[in-house]
Amino acid sequence: MRAELFLIPGPVSEERLADKTLVAIDVLRASTTICQALQAGARAVIPVEQPGEAAEMRAKIGVEDTILGGERKGLKIENFDLGNSPLEYTEAIVKDKFVVLTTTNGTRIYSKAASSNLKITGGLVNISRVTQKVKEAAKDLIIICAGEEGDFSIEDTLCGGMLLHKLIIENNIEMELNDAASLALLLYRANSRSLKQTIARGEHGRLLADLGFGRDVELATETDSIPVLPILKDRRIILEEI
Ligand code: MLT
Repeated sequence: MRAELFLIPGPVSEERLADKTLVAIDVLRASTTICQALQAGARAVIPVEQPGEAAEMRAKIGVEDTILGGERKGLKIENFDLGNSPLEYTEAIVKDKFVVLTTTNGTRIYSKAASSNLKITGGLVNISRVTQKVKEAAKDLIIICAGEEGDFSIEDTLCGGMLLHKLIIENNIEMELNDAASLALLLYRANSRSLKQTIARGEHGRLLADLGFGRDVELATETDSIPVLPILKDRRIILEEI
């Protein structure tokens, strides 16, 4: 299996995604929030790029059936129902609702994903489910890390590296890697025993702690704590039917 990892979403063309499995990673916090919202019973998470699009989507679907969620600079957007803290996405609030989500980096990846064969939301909280699905799909793999406004981010790269490590070591899959994928694998192997600390010490981990979201960082770095498999279908992220 060939695996290409992109440290930031920018350079990935639709052509490169064709007939591949795409894993979109934003550990802090979009991937984690998507997993949590779906586990809490949301009907779907609809990723959009801009807050204005979210409001339009709500008007289309119906106010009663939608929750608007997302952040800019880590904080809830004005007039939205929820921010981007996974802890806010409880069953009492999101069950049977469509969550329309817009975040600075994470939700933007999904607008790129038109031509890939299978699109999966990947985080540390569902890493084993993602690994299993990538293996089953048996297609070449593209991992897109959300990064931070055009910059590399350590938590997404570590998560990508962990996925590759699990495919290679736990599943005995022979992988041909691009250089960024090799880098992610090396980074993960050097930090596998201190993932939580390394991520908490990273730029985004520190920012979230300063904003009072330290518990989100804890939750997002708890591997396999939300073992769901969110996949993008018709522009909606839903749980894979078993
Ligand atoms: C993003 O998409 O940039 C993040 O999910 C930001 C955050 O809410 O921590």
